[in-house]
Amino acid sequence: MKSEEFFLILHSESQRSENKSSFKILNSKFFITFAAMKKKILFICLGNICRSPAAEGVMRHLLEVHNVEHLFEIDSAGIGSWHEGQLPDRRMRQCGALRGYNFNHRARQIREYDFERFDYIVGMDNENMTTLQRMKNRQPESRAQLICLANYLRNHKCQTTVPDPYYGSQRDFEFALDLIEDACEGLLHELVPTL
Ligand code: 4NP
Repeated sequence: MKSEEFFLILHSESQRSENKSSFKILNSKFFITFAAMKKKILFICLGNICRSPAAEGVMRHLLEVHNVEHLFEIDSAGIGSWHEGQLPDRRMRQCGALRGYNFNHRARQIREYDFERFDYIVGMDNENMTTLQRMKNRQPESRAQLICLANYLRNHKCQTTVPDPYYGSQRDFEFALDLIEDACEGLLHELVPTL
């Protein structure tokens, strides 16, 4: 996994941050800071109103808990455009709220540029993965690595996908969220092994 990319930030004393390596530029009031390049993760599902906005919200929460928000950029999108602009499905928001999350992403469809912009594009099921692979094959500039979220499950190892709960019961939404929480923890530990 390539990760040791850095960029330089020129800033003043007041913008200095404790947890970054900063150096004063000789005879000036400015500092240079070496900062790790953010890893960009895009979660994908079919409609972008149930599974992927939940994965985005869970991952944001984990980044906060582990104090590593500055290392990541997180977003989600759908294969389809049917729900463009909508909040996540009410059943997933309810399920999330009971566990302390606020899922408030506005749905959008995946676009070609996402394959250039993101380091990791994370699908939920085999249909997502097949479509994403087909889209990636059409993008010569693509640098995104396609991964299946279920590959990072640690407590539900028999599960190979995060099944679509949309036509299911509240219990199906809860199960999808169980899987998402489990796999997001696994994915984060893979990306930041020192956690
Ligand atoms: P999601 O669930 O892919 O987890 O957001 C779905 C949402 C909507 C539809 C299908 C799945 N739909 O057919 O509209």
